[in-house]
This record gives sequence, structure tokens and C-alpha cells, in this order.
Amino acid sequence: MAGEETAPGAESRAHLKELLAIGVVSSVLGVALGILIDWFPAQASEEAERVDTLWDVLIFASVPVFVLVMVVVLYSVWRYRMKPGEEEKDGPPIHGNTRLEIIWTTIPAVILVALCSYSYVVLTDIEDARADAMNVRVVGEQFTWTFYYKNPDGGEDVASPQLYVPQGRQVSFTVQSKDVIHDFWVPAFRMKIDAVPGVDTHLRVTPKTIGRYPVVCAELCGLGHAVMRQTAHVVTPDKFEQWLADRAAMGEGGGEEQAGGETGGGAAPDGKAVFTDAGCGGCHALADANTTGGTGPDLDEGLKGKDEAFIEESIVDPSAEIAQGYSDGLMPATFGNSLQPAELDALVKYLAEVTG
Ligand code: CUA
Repeated sequence: MAGEETAPGAESRAHLKELLAIGVVSSVLGVALGILIDWFPAQASEEAERVDTLWDVLIFASVPVFVLVMVVVLYSVWRYRMKPGEEEKDGPPIHGNTRLEIIWTTIPAVILVALCSYSYVVLTDIEDARADAMNVRVVGEQFTWTFYYKNPDGGEDVASPQLYVPQGRQVSFTVQSKDVIHDFWVPAFRMKIDAVPGVDTHLRVTPKTIGRYPVVCAELCGLGHAVMRQTAHVVTPDKFEQWLADRAAMGEGGGEEQAGGETGGGAAPDGKAVFTDAGCGGCHALADANTTGGTGPDLDEGLKGKDEAFIEESIVDPSAEIAQGYSDGLMPATFGNSLQPAELDALVKYLAEVTG
């Protein structure tokens, strides 16, 4: 054996030092990797910053524990492996060591209680309701999201296939589902919650950064789960008010005399933009819009030679005629509601035009 001439105590102290050195270097590398790698999408909400800081703290606390345990295990396997002729060298069995047991119970307990307390504080903070919060109702179904806003003119709720939220104002989402369990998630906001049939769930977010971010479904909900994606637009409060007013006016058939906003609510919506915004390309291939979705029928093929009445019926009442090879219920039946009449009209005309 290597250390035959040194005393056994000195030898195990040398091993311990070696172990500690490897453990510290590996921990530093592990923490550095954990902190330096950019794991997350943009921080688009005030909550995002708190959540990401919590993540960093968890990395700091947990990586060294994991690395140290792994180093001890691997080091022991390598250093103390049994070589031929050493079968009888097994040391005397040890029955407990009170000091060691107190230490290894206390340290993890302190770490856990501290991390739980910190997480609890962050959670209650970011879930805190603000007085000026605005409500948006989110309805999930196979395989789309529809967003409902309180009508500024006092009429029926304003529906939209796209999520628009004002910067700097807390949005309180009421999340619902029409069929199976979905999960409403905007990764850039860092907050998510299940959409459960028959139950209202709630989520609060304060959008911070202007931009467009994906809305995704985070609960396996069927064939179209992966394409159950839309867009969240964080816009200035002024732009938001304008967008909502335009949309409310569109719903009341006042399409003609609105001021054409920058948000897409003009007198004549662009059919191709409607196709893109409503997420049609997630499921349908359409050469003109450059989409290749395969969950629903290929529109270049399926709509060839069809008239506008057929196209409109296929969008508004998809169960009326099911394309061969596709099952009923795959296409959401809500677009007749979530698209405003002018948008539906533009979409139908656009599809008729590009599919010939
Ligand atoms: Cu809806 Cu997955």
C-alpha cells in the first residue's frame, strides 16, 4: 500500500485534504456553470426578476451539496476499491457517531428552512394583488387559447385570439378550460397555472418589457398540444387602450370609422396577418404564409377550388364537414367568436385568393 510508512491518522488526513480540494474546485465549477449559462428567456414581467434570483440562490445552495456528495462517493470508490489480496482488510464496523449525526442533520435542516422561508416570501410577494389590477379571462381548449377582456363600452366581453397586456399594470388572469386540462404559460413572464375544466384558476402578472412573447400550453392535452401556441403582446398602456377600443368597436360592426391604430385594428384587417396572429399556421400548411403545420389539413390542397362560403363554414363550424383522415373536434370551434367579423371576412377572402 502507498502510505505504509506514515501513521494511519496522517494518511486519512491527507486523503481528506485531497477530497476537500477536489470538492471545492468542482463546486466552484458547478456553481459557475449554473450561474453563467443563460437558461431562461427574456424577463418580460416584474415577477421574472424575483423568480430568476430565487433560481440563482437555489443553484448556490444546492450545487455544492450535490457536488460534494458525488465527489465523496466517486473518490471512495476509486481510492478505497478492493484490490486482489485485500479481501480481509475491511475495517471494524462502526455503530453510530452522535456528533456526526447531529452535524449532518442540523446543516441540511438549516439550509432547507432558510430556502423554504425565502421561497415563501418571494411567492407571497409576487402573488400579491394590486388595487389597479386588470382582469383577463383565458379560456383553453383543444388546441387554442382565447382571451376575453371587459368591454370598455359596457357590452359583451371582447374576445381575442392574441393576448394583449399593458406594460406596468398588474393583470389578473382567470384561467378556464372547455375540455381537458391545459396549462397557461408565458415563459417570459415565468408564471404558469393549470386550466382545469369546471374550475377557475388564477394567476397574476405585471408585464414589464414591451415585446412579443410566446404563450404556450404546458400540459399534455392531446394531438395538437405542441402547436397550442399563441403570442403575448406587451404594449404601452395607451396602445393597449387603443387596441381594446378598436377591438370592441369591431365587434359592434363599427368597422368603418375607427382610427386605424398601430395595433392592427384598422378599417380593413389584413387576411394574412389574421392567419398568422390567430395561429392557424401552427396546425395548417399554407404555402403563401410559409407555414408547414401538419396537425390539420394542408390548406393549399384542401381549399383548392372551394368557395368563400365553404371556407367560412370550415372556420366557424368545423364539424359541418370533416376533411378525410382528420377527426371531429381537432379544430377549435371558437374562431367564429374570437375573430371579429371583419377579421373573419379578411381571413376567408385571403384563403380563397391564395388557394385558388
Ligand atoms: Cu393544451 Cu397542451
